[in-house]
Amino acid sequence: LFSHLTQAPSDAIFAIMNAYKADTSENKIDLGVGAYRTDEEKPYVFDVVKKIEQEIVNDPSLNKEYLEIEGLPEFNKGCQILLFGKDNPLITSGRIVTAQCLGGTGALRVGFDFVKRHLQGDVYVSNPTWGNHNQILDRVGLNQINYPYYDPITKGFNCKATLDCLSQAKEGSIILLHVCAHNPTGVDPTEDEWLQIADVCKTRNLIPFFDCAYQGFASGCLDKDVFAVRKFAELGFQMIIAYSFSKNMGLYNERVGAIHILTSSQDIATKVLSNLKMVIRTLYSCPPAIGGRIVSRILCNDNYYQQWVQELNVITGRIIKMRSLLKNELDNLNVQGNWDHIIKQTGFFTFTGLTPQQCDQLTQDHHVYLLRSGRMSMAGITSKNVKQLVEAIKIVVQN
Ligand code: LMR
Repeated sequence: LFSHLTQAPSDAIFAIMNAYKADTSENKIDLGVGAYRTDEEKPYVFDVVKKIEQEIVNDPSLNKEYLEIEGLPEFNKGCQILLFGKDNPLITSGRIVTAQCLGGTGALRVGFDFVKRHLQGDVYVSNPTWGNHNQILDRVGLNQINYPYYDPITKGFNCKATLDCLSQAKEGSIILLHVCAHNPTGVDPTEDEWLQIADVCKTRNLIPFFDCAYQGFASGCLDKDVFAVRKFAELGFQMIIAYSFSKNMGLYNERVGAIHILTSSQDIATKVLSNLKMVIRTLYSCPPAIGGRIVSRILCNDNYYQQWVQELNVITGRIIKMRSLLKNELDNLNVQGNWDHIIKQTGFFTFTGLTPQQCDQLTQDHHVYLLRSGRMSMAGITSKNVKQLVEAIKIVVQN
């Protein structure tokens, strides 16, 4: 029955994660998956999350009944406030449709299924983008067109090429934008460049679809990191936003995220929600509760919110410190090349500029695991492994 199947390719990021796990070396370094590690190279569960988990387990008012198709109302409200801002009139306008989803990937899938059914149009994706964007769009059956985002010479954002490309886009096309801490490049538009992107989207009547997986990790300020979403909303755009709590609340395996659709009126929002619910009901019926309850309690309780922000600051602070440490060590060891981009890029990742062959060599000869695109997770670098990493990079770039 299944003999006609050929082997499907393994997911690049999960393959690296598994190769790292299988490596028995004591000196292995995990710079593959974008998951935070402490300076002791350990996964981190937020203290505030642990506390709330206990509270939930012992709460007699909770049960295992199905949630609504769109998830917990308090979760959805809290997510809107976090993204759009507490005093934003949109929160009470009834124009934002929100549904709790299965992580960022789940939100993207729901969002693009909705697009496929109700909007159509080509989807413009940055070159490069997170590999799963391409896979999801492919599965959903939407046509993808690359816009040139990353400039390999400057190792920065190529604003002019992006604008030129988008100004040729067919009206009604969807444009997938990373809100901050672009994955995989760590390169974001400046506020002024976002305004230019908004301009071209307005002129060409393009529909923004934002992916927001790293709020808090770019500037270190939750509000500043979502500048693009708030500005586009202020400029009157209708748009879609897929949101993930995997990184900023460390809820990777709980699969908690949200989809927001900003519409032009409350009446239209009601219709959009009904159609979004059809998408969700036929995909997985309704979301699981635990992750949503954890997020809601953080977002709806001032004390927990403050604790979360403090812990998030520690995490983002450590990643920023590792950027400087890596750059300084590379310079101190006179490693060939210019490494300024390590401190200019932001968020979880550095797009190192290392070639696929150099990355392979780092893995095979030095037990350093990273993506073959040269993407390195800064969250896996520690004050203990940075020297070994730099020595390995020195060898591979000299060859
Ligand atoms: C990553 O890019 O490493 C993360 O977003 C994890 C994933 O699911 O790919």
